[in-house]
Amino acid sequence: STHDTSAARGAEVLVASNRGPVSYEVREDGSLHTKRGGGGLVSGLSAIGPDAGALWVCSALSDGDREAVRRGVGEEGVRMLPVPADVHADAYNGIANSVLWFVHHLLYQTPLEPVFDAGFRRQWAAYETYNRAFAEALAEEAADGAAVLVQDYHLCLVPGMLRELRPDLRIGHFSHTPWAPPDYFALLPEDIREQLLRGMLGADRLGFLTRRWADAFTACCEQSVGGLAGTEVGVHGLGADADFLRERSHRPDVEERIVALREEIGEGRKAIVRVDRTELSKNIVRGLLAYRQLLDDHPQWRERVVHVAFAYPSRQDLAVYRDYMAEVQRVTDEINAGYGTPGWTPVLLNLKDDFARSLAAYRLADVALVNPIRDGMNLVAKEVPVVSDEGCALVLSREAGAYWELREDAITVNPYDVLETARALHEALSMAPGERAERTKRLSAAATALPPARWFLDQLNALRATQPG
Ligand code: G6P
Repeated sequence: STHDTSAARGAEVLVASNRGPVSYEVREDGSLHTKRGGGGLVSGLSAIGPDAGALWVCSALSDGDREAVRRGVGEEGVRMLPVPADVHADAYNGIANSVLWFVHHLLYQTPLEPVFDAGFRRQWAAYETYNRAFAEALAEEAADGAAVLVQDYHLCLVPGMLRELRPDLRIGHFSHTPWAPPDYFALLPEDIREQLLRGMLGADRLGFLTRRWADAFTACCEQSVGGLAGTEVGVHGLGADADFLRERSHRPDVEERIVALREEIGEGRKAIVRVDRTELSKNIVRGLLAYRQLLDDHPQWRERVVHVAFAYPSRQDLAVYRDYMAEVQRVTDEINAGYGTPGWTPVLLNLKDDFARSLAAYRLADVALVNPIRDGMNLVAKEVPVVSDEGCALVLSREAGAYWELREDAITVNPYDVLETARALHEALSMAPGERAERTKRLSAAATALPPARWFLDQLNALRATQPG
């Protein structure tokens, strides 16, 4: 096996997350194809080097992943947990994405939801089982006194469970999401609230993306469990990975897509670009409504601008996500039918995941629209300025974590206020090229202040400086 040596002495650094750095796909001829994931955590972990004896524990999510586990195939430094599909579905779709994600992003339509019934309790039991599988695997793999960095709302109970199994470990947990304010967190049943908070407080150190989310967590602890119980809370605002982005965005596949995209947009037209998962919290529909308002209020932009909206499929097992995607499509069609002309399609909606094409859009965007209802950080706001060819005006929600780092050079909006957002789009489109380029330069500097490698190492060092337990 690939971790024979590390199994003997155990891993010194462990990362745990629901989604891992690789996934597998079974090809028609029965062979397994490996797909490598991206993101801040992957590049952050690579910073400690391949010889550091690091191990990433994640779940086997696809059929290919489960097949890889069955065949004993694996990447060095990655252990996939074959959690039964029904347990994973209840934990991931049920609790993580329909309860915890909704609470932290304030997404409930409260006259009807949430309903905490017997079905919820069944899902909660699965969430516990799922977290226990991680805690047990980590306990088995960790060297004496090792550092364990647990990621996100999928795994809130892991620190507490792991602490009981292995009091010698240094345990950290990082939240990539916002944290709910206490009044909203109090929607959850009292015992569940306590279990979540106590689970996280099993860690030596907790990390958040902004001071705002860290303070909300602390306030929830004060309200429900009498405080932080000696757990340290730190703020680490993940930045964009400039080296990776600059290199990747100048490869031939991106250059090709720039040519194609320019053609679709049309000669001499400006582009308002957004790139998101089709995610309820991303506020894609109000973005479209603001764009329509712009065309009403400032008809001079008609035929002179295109809204290039990337809305990649996400969490499609959940009906609300499927409905939201249909609504994005419906409003797009309505705008195109109502305003389009033979030579001009006002909205170019991209529903197929194509990373190279979204990088092409980043490079040519005149305006980037980042208007989430609420967002832990939002890396799109940080990535666009880094790769922009000629400068891009950024319209940014005040509810995104990135707001606190980028507000000075962005045009900021209340994400619910469609009229304000329409005015911001007009201001962004009208910005003089010189000012736009200057602001983009400053945005790029702020966006890359804490590259993923530093972000990861800072946390590791801070965790190692704590006293275990
Ligand atoms: C957020 C979460 C991540 C998650 C990502 C994609 O950024 O903080 O943990 O991986 O969304 O969502 P998904 O459900 O597809 O993993």
